[in-house]
Amino acid sequence: MPNADLLIINAAELVTCAGFSHSPARGADQGRLGIIEAGAVAVADGRILEVGATADLLTRHNLPTDQVLDAHGGVILPGFVDAHTHLVFAGDRSAEWESRMQGKPYLEILREGGGIQSTVEATRAASQDDLLANARKWMRRCLAGGTTTVEIKSGYGLNRDDELKMLEVARQLGAEGPIAVVATYLGAHVVPSDYKDRRSEYLDLVESTAREVAQRNLARFFDVFCEEEAFTLAETERLLGFAQDLGFGLKLHAEQFTAFGAAGLAAQMGATSVDHLERLDDEGLAALKKSVALSSTKGTVAVLLPAVAFHLGLDRNPPARRLIESGVPVALATDLNPGSAFTPSMPMVITLATRRLGLTTAESIMAATINGAHAVGLGAETGSIEPGKRADLIVCDIPHHKWLGYAFGWNPARTVIVGGAVIIPERLPGPGLD
Ligand code: NIG
Ligand code: FE
Repeated sequence: MPNADLLIINAAELVTCAGFSHSPARGADQGRLGIIEAGAVAVADGRILEVGATADLLTRHNLPTDQVLDAHGGVILPGFVDAHTHLVFAGDRSAEWESRMQGKPYLEILREGGGIQSTVEATRAASQDDLLANARKWMRRCLAGGTTTVEIKSGYGLNRDDELKMLEVARQLGAEGPIAVVATYLGAHVVPSDYKDRRSEYLDLVESTAREVAQRNLARFFDVFCEEEAFTLAETERLLGFAQDLGFGLKLHAEQFTAFGAAGLAAQMGATSVDHLERLDDEGLAALKKSVALSSTKGTVAVLLPAVAFHLGLDRNPPARRLIESGVPVALATDLNPGSAFTPSMPMVITLATRRLGLTTAESIMAATINGAHAVGLGAETGSIEPGKRADLIVCDIPHHKWLGYAFGWNPARTVIVGGAVIIPERLPGPGLD
């Protein structure tokens, strides 16, 4: 056994989320946190070496005090895996927020050429360096809240060069660390206004760019926004099939405003995740349930994004309880983007999931950690506190895990450990200081 180089001790609760590295937690398991009281974690070379009781680990690992982190009776959680973000963008949409406050619907703004299209204009106009500088700030905000792995989509370039520019930024963010990045190519976010009357040409462009993205290994996943004002079910099927042949994992923005049958399509095609699902109907639910039953190890993960309905002022929620009761694994993510969910906060998402989706605190924590990891294909690497996994942990300043969700509007993360590196959110540099 290698020698430990970091010991984290004295957690009132060590929430391991262990036992689901090979397939996501579902059904009754969705709430099985695997708590160790008075727990401790030993880390070596950025990986988890041992997990157990503080008293035991202290006798086995004799480390100098500067390598011992005392959780002082707080809670240790696995680092959050934010499985759905649009974190690389330029500009802001505060004017759109104001008009939405006055009752203007999101899809109407999009139809009139605003919304996503306005972020596309700003992102196209920004240099790669400017995009990177802006994204770094958001990465820092994610990290401060306990996120240690983040999925990042392209989709604000909508032409070859600007989509590749976004994905290069995502690659650079991953290379810089410490947060691990999983990139998704979302050329099929909307049809850009310059292709308005040439939809099939745009689909061709998405495909040729996808080929290049695959060749340059710039994204692991391929995603489509299947929706009115975006892509039809038939177009989605064509694009997902093409992407699958290129070797991409599949994700889908499905059933957000309209029940299109997209979740069923994604499930049939073995998508890694289907995201949103506010309008999921009985048929879609049955298809997801079937995908789980067919596959002994995986099955499509439902990624729920409650910050979106909150930010858009909608009260339509995905059928989270029915998903869990049907054995469909549920993950949670922010959907961080400048339009429909301008938040990097996984703790806030847990509050919304418990209050608005009817998940229990325990189910929400599993959804934000191990099931999020499965939603980005990293279930064996992160998302739980088990020997061999990357040492991604949060030391929270709360007395027990039930404060997550219940307490909100402040940051419970006191220390974040990413790949064994210890980070104190309060000491992260501000703009201009790095
Ligand atoms: O997941 N639904 C489509 N895409 C994003 C929103 C992006 C935007 O509004 O800029 C979403 O909600
Ligand atoms: Fe999204």
